[in-house]
Amino acid sequence: MTQAAPSAVAKPARDGFTSSFGVLAATLGSAVGLGNIWKFPYLTGANGGAGFLLVYLVATLLVALPVMISEIMLGRRAKADAVTTLVRLAPRRQPWWLIGAFGVLAAFLILAFYSEVAAWVFAYIFKAAAGDILTTDPAQASQSFASLVSDPVASLAWQWVVLLLIGGIILMGVSKGIEAVTKKLMPLLFVLLIVIGVRSLTLPGASAGLEFLFAPDFSRITPAVVLTAMGLAFFKLSIGMGTMMTYGSYFRADENVPATALRVMSADLFVSMLAGVAIFPAVFAFGFKPEAGPSLLFITIPAVFANMPFGQLFLVLFFVLAAIAATGAMLSILEVPVSVMSERLGVSRKKAVVVNLALLAVIGSVCALSNSLTAHWTLFGLNAFDLFDYVSSNILMPVGGIGLTVFVAWVWGRPRFEEALSNGGRLANRGVLDVLFFVTRWVTPLLILAVMLKGLGAF
Ligand code: PFF
Repeated sequence: MTQAAPSAVAKPARDGFTSSFGVLAATLGSAVGLGNIWKFPYLTGANGGAGFLLVYLVATLLVALPVMISEIMLGRRAKADAVTTLVRLAPRRQPWWLIGAFGVLAAFLILAFYSEVAAWVFAYIFKAAAGDILTTDPAQASQSFASLVSDPVASLAWQWVVLLLIGGIILMGVSKGIEAVTKKLMPLLFVLLIVIGVRSLTLPGASAGLEFLFAPDFSRITPAVVLTAMGLAFFKLSIGMGTMMTYGSYFRADENVPATALRVMSADLFVSMLAGVAIFPAVFAFGFKPEAGPSLLFITIPAVFANMPFGQLFLVLFFVLAAIAATGAMLSILEVPVSVMSERLGVSRKKAVVVNLALLAVIGSVCALSNSLTAHWTLFGLNAFDLFDYVSSNILMPVGGIGLTVFVAWVWGRPRFEEALSNGGRLANRGVLDVLFFVTRWVTPLLILAVMLKGLGAF
């Protein structure tokens, strides 16, 4: 990144991504995370397999992709944090910046529980290395996981390790922190995932898992399940809450935004499928239940490797991989409030990181302790961990998605949309933009609204 010459008046140039590969690594690093490796498999398992996957795919194409493109486009145009972007691009006195403000709220809720799942993943690297969790006995595997999550000290300590790690990387900046780290980690993640997928597929009995993943059972698809699948699409692609707007603001002017979004979406899907292929064959091969819920990853993956040559090594590698994925995603979530605070309120990046981490340590601890000391703090029957998860994916992000697409297609308008996404006419993508604008204007916001209202039981 070039820095402006030091002088009394010149502001340093705004930090940003420095290469196309860096853009892809960071954006994909945001998308690929525990959403793919933890949430996608357990939700697919709990909601009937392939039927759920199909609904998820439709939601990804008709909802997530248009929102992602709109978000990146707005951020790149305004070159600012999520709140400032909408202040700058909206007509005077229209409160579209509230989308950014809700995004900050969503970022806190997500990081609060996400950092705890990441905490379990980090702890599992060490448990795996020590050989503690290498078992194919479902009861023993569940017991081992339960003893970690119900231990308040371990839960909090690991969460703080995670928060300090991402805080440290964010402190290094956008190009030297986020971009540099994700450029190294993402290729490693793909290699590890492929190795592990092949390992799981060669298990005896793997075919039942594949059938579950690929043969649809539509009887399980209720309106609430459709909302869950759509919420998962928002969560997995990091959209509807300002993350992609913030990353878009670090994109270079010559980046092809629709093509990058499509690439990120496809690669993200590929990673989810690989995670499914790594997990479900083992679930069936060892007699686990696919409906295990959030603990699925932590009790079945050890079983995948338990009875195999070099099993322990693979197990350690798997949790290293999950930790890598979680780190890239958390960086992008933390960047939302940090950039709003430092750019909008004018505080230093360092101070913004420290303040946000302190707030997160407090809010996050409620989630970290939600299987022990705060287990009885419930609302609508959900503890803090489940509540934050539900509200962010199924309410805040979809509402943000409606706001963003309505803003882009109805307020900002067609000429600017076309200008921004064709890079001022340099890309010959008119036909694509015709379809995209139509979907963004009519299909995406209405579909989100209908799925939300029906899924929440409003009609
Ligand atoms: N997309 C991430 C995952 O799949 O794990 C999670 C996430 C990242 C959600 C960034 C929201 C966000 F803004």
